[in-house]
This record gives sequence, structure tokens and C-alpha cells, in this order.
Amino acid sequence: MWEVHDFPVPADLAKTAHLDAAGYEKMYRESIENPEAFWAEHGKRIDWIKPYSKVKDVSYDASDLHIKWFHDGTLNAAANCLDRHLAERGDQVAIIWEGDDPKDDKKITYRELHRDVCKFSNALKDLGVKKGDRVTIYLPMIPEAAVAMLACARVGAVHSIVFGGFSPDALAGRIQDCDSNIVITADEGLRGGRTVPLKVNTDKALEDCPDCKTVVVVKRTGGSVNFVEGRDHWYHEICDAASDDCPPTEMGAEDPLFILYTSGSTGKPKGVLHTTGGYMVYASMTHQYVFDYRDGEIYWCTADVGWVTGHSYIIYGPLANGATTLMFEGVPNYPDFSRFWQVCDKHNVSIFYTAPTAIRALMREGDGPVKSTSRKSLRILGSVGEPINPEAWMWYHEVVGDKRCPIVDTWWQTETGGILITPLPGVTNLKPGSATLPFFGVEPIIVDGDNKVLEGATEGNLCIQDSWPGQMRTVYGDHERFIQTYFTTFPGRYFSGDGCRRDEDGYYWITGRVDDVINVSGHRMGTAEVESALVAHDKVAEAAVVGYPHDIKGQGIYAYVTLNAGLEPTEELRKELVTWVRKEIGPIASPDLIQWAPGLPKTRSGKIMRRILRKIAANEHDALGDTSTLAEPAVVDDLVENRMNK
Ligand code: WT7
Repeated sequence: MWEVHDFPVPADLAKTAHLDAAGYEKMYRESIENPEAFWAEHGKRIDWIKPYSKVKDVSYDASDLHIKWFHDGTLNAAANCLDRHLAERGDQVAIIWEGDDPKDDKKITYRELHRDVCKFSNALKDLGVKKGDRVTIYLPMIPEAAVAMLACARVGAVHSIVFGGFSPDALAGRIQDCDSNIVITADEGLRGGRTVPLKVNTDKALEDCPDCKTVVVVKRTGGSVNFVEGRDHWYHEICDAASDDCPPTEMGAEDPLFILYTSGSTGKPKGVLHTTGGYMVYASMTHQYVFDYRDGEIYWCTADVGWVTGHSYIIYGPLANGATTLMFEGVPNYPDFSRFWQVCDKHNVSIFYTAPTAIRALMREGDGPVKSTSRKSLRILGSVGEPINPEAWMWYHEVVGDKRCPIVDTWWQTETGGILITPLPGVTNLKPGSATLPFFGVEPIIVDGDNKVLEGATEGNLCIQDSWPGQMRTVYGDHERFIQTYFTTFPGRYFSGDGCRRDEDGYYWITGRVDDVINVSGHRMGTAEVESALVAHDKVAEAAVVGYPHDIKGQGIYAYVTLNAGLEPTEELRKELVTWVRKEIGPIASPDLIQWAPGLPKTRSGKIMRRILRKIAANEHDALGDTSTLAEPAVVDDLVENRMNK
């Protein structure tokens, strides 16, 4: 539909930018040639209680792997997001909350947010929460989620947010893994006019978590909930009773700030651990440069705080920068497909950051719902979570941004804490579909399967050569798994798990995961997790799960299921299995297609040949490649014959 072409920086944008292309190159070169000096300088953007004298202590050597930044400095993350703004911008709005219902909204100033956080911090202390304790947060997109995060940071507790769309089982697994003995939740969530039974889910999860003895409940909908005497506390009651004077706890730069669970290619989700100093420096610096944030602007990231995007670019980055950050409880299509743009107009949003899956879903509804709004406040558009296809990029640029707004396609991961590859607005010439160039201090390297560095225009596995301050430090409780997952495939480098192409201009094009991780609507899912949920059903003998191209979601979930002997596949059972997986993990893990497989293609040693299953799911069965090592080649013919994605 759109002619895809490159977009050189328009002259008017270049004029107002803080840097030009040569300036970026110079600053980038300095950051790579002398990271110590570069970060010693930029670390000062954060307020330190005790300034650091050491900047970087990193080894990627598997026998002695450690990552430390600013490690003799001390600080408090919440004080950086709140206290330090009070003198100059105490009455500026920190959070604009836009409810699920367009009639519901709220503005919270820095002074009010500071007071709320201090009160809840004291309430947490009264409940026995101490520095280093893990606090699970299972909340919808309401201001109390920001308050809870910042209160944890203020008292030195480590928050672990579990996305409100996860099931009781998934919640229980995460509570157990990090030995958390307190959960902060709400009576119900509200999304797209429908309630989400968060308290009911929490009660179910806690049946399997005997050590979790405290629950704090935010009243969101007022729906009736079961209340366990002695265990459950109303958020508003304990806050009302608490003092609003709570000095921030002095934390070491390398003290943990949060844990966030994310899926990998094998096993159960990993607790990605981020620490305080380097993370805050990196989140705030990227937020300022990548979105060209300017004082007084309204900035909106549509992510949920249950994902890392919400941590770094709704809460910590923007608030550290004294920005006004918009928090949206709802969904893009409620009450109608114009909602995003109506919210932009209502609150004068300058910077808008969302995921390609949302763009594609809205694009399908045509230009009408966009064009019925003004969007004249918009200045910069952002994309994150998965590769954005050039058609969606063009529509975002031409229709949403009226050809005025640069798009920053930001590549990063839960593990990286902040954006690593991205254009800078008014600085970088854009190519639709490319995340373009590395941020300061980030050295991308493309290697082949033997860890040989590939130079120039090339394609291969995307690694990062050296550390940056926002990098994860370990997998909570399993440092060995951290080393194995990220530093052994290509020794001496951080391996992202993504494939990548670099073009003749040095621009990076992410091609997607090269491991058994799939990206469904920008959410990361381990195929192994879905498989283990399926085989936990008593009628399932075996299951293999792969991703396949999906118009809206980017990738859909395709499951091959072998039933126990003697069982007849039925439509009813197919539905039952989908419901089962939703219950085991959550709606985001629902298989889109289930194919009954009398057998799975295996090598003679019994290994499932996923390469073949991926081809069949993608409807590319003409190019199955070498099948000579299959134990039973006839299995493949049956799978091709009965494929679901015709
Ligand atoms: C994976 C990380 C980063 C926060 C949201 C997802 C994919 C992310 C892009 C992009 C192409 C992207 C990668 C990455 N991804 N951003 N701009 N272009 N792919 O965080 O759940 O940790 O997933 O998302 O495959 O490895 P996550």
C-alpha cells in the first residue's frame, strides 16, 4: 500500500535536535573507546548519597563472571524519582492516569506521589518488610502500582511484578521462586470493560505458597472479595494509618532493585535481576535521549508495568527525569478503535510509545478511527517488542504521525534493562523496519555459529561485546543459569538470542529469535512452557509447540499434540486444551492452532525435529530440507496433509 523508502532527518527537526549525526558518532566513539570516562561523567545524572569512585568492574569470562557498575556509590531509586524533584517541580504532574472507562482519569503531582509513596513505605515497614525482602506485585495499571514499586525501592525491598494476565499457577511459581512472603494485589482489574479476578487468583495461588503470609489489597472496582483475617489488609486502611515521613533507605549501587520473570528456551521462567545504580543511570539516560524528552512534555508508553517496558519507560526512566508519564489502564479498542488517539488529544501527548502488534491491529480497522482525531500534540512515535514490518511502520508514520513524527524503533530485552539499538530523533536517518544504530556504550557484534565475528554487511547471531550499566546482573537464585544462558553459546560475549542483519550503512535489522522462544504480540513465550502445560493434561501424551507467522500477533502459537492411546480427537477436546493452557499459564499463552499429531518427527535418537514442525506450521512444507535423519519419515506426510495453517 505504501511505498517504503528511507527517511533522512528533516531540516526542521535537525535544527531543534541536541545532536547531529557527527555529534552522535563522536559521542558514540568516546563511549566505546573509553567507557570508564564516559560513564563516570553520565553517572552524575543520578543523585548519589555517597558518590562512586569506581565506575566499571566487569568480566564476561564464564569462570569469573561478574558485572558491577558504580559499585562503591550509594543511592535510593525512589528518592531519584521523587524527592529530588520536589523543590523545583513539586506541583508538576508526575502521573496522568487514564482509566479503562474514558470518564475516569486522575492527575498526581510529584508532591502527592511522594506523600503516597512515603505512606505506603511506612505501611510496608509496619507489615515487617525489610531491606532485601522480595515483594510480589500483582496489580492492574493503576497509580497504586507505581506507588508500590517506588515504596519497595524506598525501603530497599526488591519488587517482583507479575503481569495481571498471568494465572494463579504462574503467580504461585513466581512467589515461590523468589521466596516472597507478601503480595500486593487488587480486588479486581478492569480492562476493556471486563473485570479480572486478581484477588481470587491470589487466593488460589497462595494455597501453594504457605510461606506467603501477608496480602495487601487495593480497592479498584469495589467487587466483593474473600478476606482472610490476619493475612489480608486493605491498602487504603494501612496507608491512612501511616505517617507520611519516611526517609529513603541508603542502597548500594549493586543492591537489587527488582526481579522480573521472563521466558527462556528451556525450563521455567527466569528471575531476571536488576540492581540499582547502573539501571537508574541507564533507564533515565535512554529515556531522555531516545525520546528526546523535553521538560513539560507529556510522555505516554502504552506497556503494562508487568513487563520491563513498563518498569524502565513508564516508571523509573521518566520519573527520574522529572517527566509527566501517562499510565493507561485500558486497551486500544475500548470503547472503540480510536481510543489511543483520543487519549493523545485529551492529554496533549507529545511522545507516544507502543508495540507493533497494536499498530497492526489498529491498521486493520482503516484510517477512519485515526483521522477522526487531531493528534497535533504528537512529536515522536516509538515502537518496541518485536520487529515492526515496513508496512506497519509506514502506516504509523503516514497516518498516525501525519508524516511529521520520527519513529524510534527500539530494540532491547528484559535482560538489557533499557534500549540498546535505536534511532535518536532528529539525529538518525530512518529506514522502516530497522532499529538502526547502537545507543551510547553499546557494542553490537554479529557472529556466526562458531563465534567468528562477521564484519561489514552480514547476517548472524546478535551479541553485545561488553557491558552497559543497565545490564541484568544474574538470574535470581541461579547464577550458573545466568552464565549458561547468556555467556557460553558465544564465549566472551553477551548473547541476545536474536538473529540480526547489518546492512551496508551499518544499520541493524533484527530478524527475530534464533532459539525456542516465540514472540506473541510482543510478549515473550518459551515453547517449552506451553509444551509442559499441554502434557500436564491427562489426555495428552506428547506435545511440540512452535511459532508461525501471524498477521496481527507477529507470531502465533502452533501446537502439535499427540493424545494418549485410544483417545479420539474432537473439537471439544481442542477447546478444552486451549482453556487448559490459559488456566495453566494465562491468556497470552493460548495456542492459536492445535494440530492432532499421530506422531512427531524425531531423529533416531528421539529428538523432536522442530525445524520441520516450524516449516509445516508456516505452510512452507515444500522446503522441509534434509529429512534423512528422521526415524519415521511417514509421520511428516501425515502432518503436512493435516496442517492447520492452509
Ligand atoms: C525480545 C525481548 C524490550 C521490551 C519488550 C520485550 C524482541 C524487542 C524489538 C525491536 C525487533 C524486538 C527481540 C528481543 N524485540 N524489541 N524493536 N525489533 N525485535 O522484552 O519480553 O524481554 O523480549 O523482543 O526478539 O529478544 P522481552
